[in-house]
Amino acid sequence: MSRTQSRFVCQSCGAAVVRWEGQCRTCGEWNTLVETVVRDAPRPRPAAVAGVAPAPVPLSHAGEGDAQSRRPVGIGELDRVLGGGLVAGSVVLLGGEPGIGKSTLLLQVAAGVAATGATVLYATGEESTSQVRLRAARLGLTTGAIADAIRVVAETGVGRITDLARADRPGLLVVDSVQTVASEELDGPPGSVGQVREATLRLMELAKGEDIPVVLVGHVTKDGTLAGPKTLEHLVDVVLSVEGDRTGGLRLLRATKNRYGSTEEVGVFEMGEKGLTEVADPARAFLAEHEVPAPGSVVAPILEGSRPLLVEVQALVAPTSAPSPRRTASGVDPNRLALLVAVLGRRAGIGLAAHDVYANLAGGLSVTEPGLDLPLALALASSLRDRPLVAGTVAIGEVGLLGELRAVGGLDRRLREAARLGFVRAVVPRSPGRPAVQVPGIELVVVGTLADAVRAALADGQAGQPRRP
Ligand code: TYD
Ligand code: MG
Repeated sequence: MSRTQSRFVCQSCGAAVVRWEGQCRTCGEWNTLVETVVRDAPRPRPAAVAGVAPAPVPLSHAGEGDAQSRRPVGIGELDRVLGGGLVAGSVVLLGGEPGIGKSTLLLQVAAGVAATGATVLYATGEESTSQVRLRAARLGLTTGAIADAIRVVAETGVGRITDLARADRPGLLVVDSVQTVASEELDGPPGSVGQVREATLRLMELAKGEDIPVVLVGHVTKDGTLAGPKTLEHLVDVVLSVEGDRTGGLRLLRATKNRYGSTEEVGVFEMGEKGLTEVADPARAFLAEHEVPAPGSVVAPILEGSRPLLVEVQALVAPTSAPSPRRTASGVDPNRLALLVAVLGRRAGIGLAAHDVYANLAGGLSVTEPGLDLPLALALASSLRDRPLVAGTVAIGEVGLLGELRAVGGLDRRLREAARLGFVRAVVPRSPGRPAVQVPGIELVVVGTLADAVRAALADGQAGQPRRP
């Protein structure tokens, strides 16, 4: 039997060799050789499939008709993140931890697409069709025209999946997950770097050639990156990730790459008895409710794309006699936490060298925005002193190594949202050269250094009159 030939291709420099080696001889990188199928004939290009060679078009006319080929999925928060819907022929990769709700979301997407009259092919290599049906039952999707329009197949061969899609021509193809499908022509097991790459390439070929949008589920590794070859994210058009605390209800959907829209938008969902529902007031969703202000808790008005969200930073510091105290962060950057502990000690007289430090964001959110520095530092100070912030206070700002504070963008929008949710006071850095922000209902406490901020923010502050702009 003739077998398609394979080569080991370096994922770093592209050099190809016949046998696997630990180190690429061309560029010297380690563990970058990946088995890749080599076909006799070159891969058919999309235009060749359609039988037309692409002719150059004037830039002014390029891409005409693209707007119409967007298919809204009928879930407002997801359409918002996608930039208006799924683009025909696009490949979307949906990543997230196990059990976070990827399959649930995609079944709901399938239902949304089916509701527009199109059919959906749902290929699952993770579960049996009866497991998918059980989930569908929870979502109320087992009878009716919509359930009929969603065709489920438990299949792991990427060749058979693409054949089915070519025959069926569905309005959407879902592959759950890319780590469970494999090409029959490669030796590696499903999930291996070579197989994931080959499966993705084959599905992309299908998407571009037949104009079918394809959504792939991708697993993430422990450190939160997508499992598989590094090139995976470069190959696909859109990378979405579902984040959140699996034990809590809230889920955040974020685009980390989007060739057809902004990567700034986020969608907020809640996992309930009947799948994921959109959250009515996302700005408030990640805020924990307290009867009285609690020491170690600071509310920060962050910006996720164009959407202001109020999040609660929580810190706990506890004395320890261990030689190297703990620094545990979840939802915030651990390096930033370590740095803030150092700056607090050296520049604000808040010594934490003999304390264990824990910091997290309420609601399982994960935020990298530098503006979270000041709220985090204030939460640490508040916990150490065991004094809450003045009631109704929010804080936002970046902290420098010298203990100086830097302003963040979009302050106006952030504070308006804070005012809407009932906050009355905001500790913010001085922003020389920018017009002073004035938001009705918010008293601004403008500070220059971290030490000032600590004095101004903590309730019953011993010293320091807050400076008004
Ligand atoms: P699932 O979509 O299977 O996660 P993933 O595909 O990302 O691994 O969903 C996992 C969890 O969601 C599971 O613990 C059950 C829960 N769930 C609900 O709470 N409500 C629902 O309606 C459904 C379908 C699932
Ligand atoms: Mg799943």
